[in-house]
Amino acid sequence: MRPRKGASGLVVLLLAQLTDAIPQLHKRALATSDPFYPSPWMDPQAQGWEDAYAKAKAFVSQLTLLEKVNLTTGVGWEAEQCVGQTGAIPRLGLTEFCLHDSPLGIRGTDYNSAFPSGQTAAATFDEGLIFKRGLAMGREAYAKGVTVLLGPVAGPLGRMPEAGRNWEGFSPDPVLTGVGMAASIKGIQQAGVVACAKHFIGNEQENFRQAGEARGYGFDIDESLSSNIDDKTMHELYLWPFADSVRAGVGSVMCSYQQVNNSYGCQNSKLLNDLLKNELGFQGFVMSDWQAQHTGAASAVAGLDMSMPGDTVFNSRRSYWGTNLTLAVLNGTVPEWRIDDMATRIMAAFFKVNGTVGKQEPINFSFWTQDTYGPIHWAAKQGYQQINHHVNVQTGPEGRHGDVIREVAAKGTVLLKNTGVLPLKKPKFIAVIGEDAGPNPLGPNACDNRGCANGTLAMGWGSGTANFPYLVTPDAALLARAIMDGTRYESVLSNYATSQIKSLVSLDNVTAIVFVNADSGEGFINVDGNMGDRKNLTLWKNGDDLIRNVSSWCPNTIVVIHSTGPVLLPWHDSPNITAILWAGLPGQESGNSIHDVLYGVTSPGRSPFTWGATRESYGTDVLYQPNNGKAAPQQDFSEGVFIDYRHFDKANASLIYPFGHGLSYSTFGYTNLRIQKLPAPPYRPTTGTTAPAPTFGAPPASNLTEYLFPSASFPPIYQYIYPYLNTTDPRAASADAHYGQNASQFLPPRALDGSAQPRLRASGGAGGNPGLWDVLYEVSADVTNTGAVHADEVPQLYVSLGAGAGDPRVMLRGFRRVSVGPGETVEVLFRVTRRDVSGWDVGVQDWVVGAGEKRVFVGRSSRGLELSGVLG
Ligand SMILES: *[C@@H]1O[C@H](CO)[C@@H](O)[C@H](O)[C@H]1NC(C)=O
Ligand SMILES: *[C@@H]1O[C@H](CO)[C@@H](O)[C@H](O)[C@H]1NC(C)=O
Ligand SMILES: *[C@@H]1O[C@H](CO)[C@@H](O)[C@H](O)[C@H]1NC(C)=O
Ligand SMILES: *[C@@H]1O[C@H](CO)[C@@H](O)[C@H](O)[C@H]1NC(C)=O
Ligand SMILES: *[C@@H]1O[C@H](CO)[C@@H](O)[C@H](O)[C@H]1NC(C)=O
Ligand SMILES: *[C@@H]1O[C@H](CO)[C@@H](O)[C@H](O)[C@H]1NC(C)=O
Ligand SMILES: *[C@@H]1O[C@H](CO)[C@@H](O)[C@H](O)[C@H]1NC(C)=O
Ligand SMILES: *[C@@H]1O[C@H](CO)[C@@H](O)[C@H](O)[C@H]1NC(C)=O
Ligand SMILES: *[C@@H]1O[C@H](CO)[C@@H](O)[C@H](O)[C@H]1NC(C)=O
Ligand SMILES: *[C@@H]1O[C@H](CO)[C@@H](O)[C@H](O)[C@H]1NC(C)=O
Repeated sequence: MRPRKGASGLVVLLLAQLTDAIPQLHKRALATSDPFYPSPWMDPQAQGWEDAYAKAKAFVSQLTLLEKVNLTTGVGWEAEQCVGQTGAIPRLGLTEFCLHDSPLGIRGTDYNSAFPSGQTAAATFDEGLIFKRGLAMGREAYAKGVTVLLGPVAGPLGRMPEAGRNWEGFSPDPVLTGVGMAASIKGIQQAGVVACAKHFIGNEQENFRQAGEARGYGFDIDESLSSNIDDKTMHELYLWPFADSVRAGVGSVMCSYQQVNNSYGCQNSKLLNDLLKNELGFQGFVMSDWQAQHTGAASAVAGLDMSMPGDTVFNSRRSYWGTNLTLAVLNGTVPEWRIDDMATRIMAAFFKVNGTVGKQEPINFSFWTQDTYGPIHWAAKQGYQQINHHVNVQTGPEGRHGDVIREVAAKGTVLLKNTGVLPLKKPKFIAVIGEDAGPNPLGPNACDNRGCANGTLAMGWGSGTANFPYLVTPDAALLARAIMDGTRYESVLSNYATSQIKSLVSLDNVTAIVFVNADSGEGFINVDGNMGDRKNLTLWKNGDDLIRNVSSWCPNTIVVIHSTGPVLLPWHDSPNITAILWAGLPGQESGNSIHDVLYGVTSPGRSPFTWGATRESYGTDVLYQPNNGKAAPQQDFSEGVFIDYRHFDKANASLIYPFGHGLSYSTFGYTNLRIQKLPAPPYRPTTGTTAPAPTFGAPPASNLTEYLFPSASFPPIYQYIYPYLNTTDPRAASADAHYGQNASQFLPPRALDGSAQPRLRASGGAGGNPGLWDVLYEVSADVTNTGAVHADEVPQLYVSLGAGAGDPRVMLRGFRRVSVGPGETVEVLFRVTRRDVSGWDVGVQDWVVGAGEKRVFVGRSSRGLELSGVLG
């Protein structure tokens, strides 16, 4: 993890420069990841998991080795209905677990809802509303028969604004993302569905995330990208929201494709064993991203618990686990306690969300087709039957999910600029301009996995998508309102009809609303030269020219941006541009949501990222070209914790709109900061040791005959992954030329050690040492609506740790969305925890409250710090 003490990335760069000067040393000094073994086993006393653990232990104690292996290994790509399924345990009535995308709905099915992106949800700065979104998504997943919903996302966090999948997550700020993760997880799991915090960790760009994918784009590399992250940055930035996820009780975590410090995410013992399971005390299970597993025994002892989708590569008919894991346990390469721990973690997650064996919701859809009838085993083309039951899940106990979607997207739309033209009040004449206001002429779901930006942009592309049940376009919603109001209304749904647009918006008294966008998505789809990551930060489809043109003809030009993150706004200060709104990725109710903000029905949100003037001003960028020959491209996170506003502050860089910024239709005053120090107990480093690793049930039979395919009457499904052996000759059954290597020849020391282990001082509870959540201060402030209308304000609390240049000028530590009537004052209260004022001490390997003078700020954005005081 730490190649050298301190800011590793920087040191690595310097070393590279030095060694370049020495002719005989051409090799770059690569970041390395410290080994950490053995893999921590579950803690029976872990808070919130006690019942789940007891049930899981009782269940796993009944299982044979084959049954345990079945839980850990997916049945293969396209083998069943969901994007991933585990093996079943028919003897005890447990049906296969359905693991399915996505973080904004249920992917590839029908009669489901298409929710706003995580990023748009973050822009609401409304924890309760993010929870409601999670709960509604969980309800839909449950009703379709999904056991594990593959979201929410904290990796990417958003180190680079160009990164393709930032929109699936929340914000480059770890606290905002942490709140988003925890609220989403609680919502999803309350509906009886296991959530999955992904992608763990450092999965900050699409380019080179998988060597195979990169080769498909013509890059000649053999290994996937390495994100090189030092220990302090890891803790204070990237790990932070995962700690919040664990604290929220998340049942599963997905490890990532790329490497961290030159060790693959799904076999990186430092990440999985040390950080996640030991320090954060994660009690659920770790699944691989799809094809992110690269080894069998090595990934098992490094902390992986479930192989997804089960085959080595899609449709290979071979698995690193399945048969191989059965053999590895029998021949002693993987200890029995480790397979027991895997199975217990998987079952505990299921029981934690109140799963009942034998009473699981049946899977009532097939991801691979929307046909009613078809082969249930899609890859094998076997088992022709009804595979889609077209269950309508768009309404749940809390009501119509479309209403939540409309509210989230409206409250997550950010009013960046407003000279006073908004809210609209029965305008005389509206001209709506741009392709982004209208439909995709081929239908909202025309492009596979949303891999295009045709028509209005309401979702990015890739696996993080869902089919639209309908898509309310801005044009449709604004037209309907115009008819009600008696407003003249015309739209030109093209970016290129220059002469028609000119004659329309040059007319008297027109309110021109220009819709533009910028898209991105997952690396497996290339849209217009964007291989997931954006190749630039400008608007797509001539958007800047469109805005410049319209605003040169019309003195009342309102710009609405749908995008997957910040875009450059070179025209923002034109006096003819009277309002600018960022509407993110709103989901199915897009038009209704933008209507609600434009007409002042709903109060808008705040920006979850900074709007810089140039691409360079962000200080970080995607690595677009391999930089290490055919070996793993090296992405040094040498900026440390300084991303987004922390970077802009450090560089004293000018920006257009700060993190946290957003106007409302009223004005607010901040007064009366009060700081109260609470009598918190001292921080107690965790000490002592764990219990030794337990094993459950009878030891596995040693006679290999027991592990053969059940009988001739059991016809294996083509390409399916099973736990069985096809012969009692283990070498032949493994089909591995290297079979027979002794574990001690290739597994790291202590990998097999099941004895009691020392507890880390920074560990001890869900998310880390419980003392981190002791409240040290209560900070409150008065927020007064000084304007004329009821509106929402988002007071934000920032801290400065006073440690000098090594620390950000300020860091967000809390926020509240409050609704305030005109003339009304509300008191907002923030609880500042020990964690909030600590930094990660690399030497001590713990959080430490430093000696510097700590200050607290309450204000309207990272650059609008109205009130400040000393945390004495
Ligand atoms: C393993 O899972 C497969 C697929 O669900 C199932 O057919 C098989 O019976 C299971 N094996 C055991 C030993 O439970
Ligand atoms: C599970 O059931 C318990 C007891 O009925 C209840 O308190 C808890 O909220 C339920 N949890 C979920 C995730 O449904
Ligand atoms: C076992 O794993 C090896 C790779 O380590 C693979 O080549 C082989 O095909 C696997 N065997 C089975 C039966 O899946
Ligand atoms: C839709 O998008 C694709 C790819 O971006 C493009 O090639 C195609 O022309 C578009 N189709 C329409 C009808 O706009
Ligand atoms: C524009 O509005 C003004 C003020 O309401 C009015 O006097 C004028 O006639 C309008 N022009 C047109 C073309 O509607
Ligand atoms: C940026 O990328 C988009 C999408 O590929 C493209 O439409 C646009 O022209 C590019 N901008 C510049 C300045 O090249
Ligand atoms: C603003 O619009 C007017 C037309 O009303 C135009 O004459 C002027 O040049 C525009 N200004 C800018 C900065 O585009
Ligand atoms: C293994 O089990 C089979 C079938 O039950 C039996 O025929 C065989 O003798 C056993 N082998 C040993 C070594 O016990
Ligand atoms: C099954 O066993 C035979 C030897 O009997 C071996 O050649 C073959 O590769 C094995 N198949 C699988 C799927 O492991
Ligand atoms: C044990 O089984 C695993 C999985 O097939 C294999 O990789 C390993 O070489 C085997 N080791 C021994 C000592 O037989």
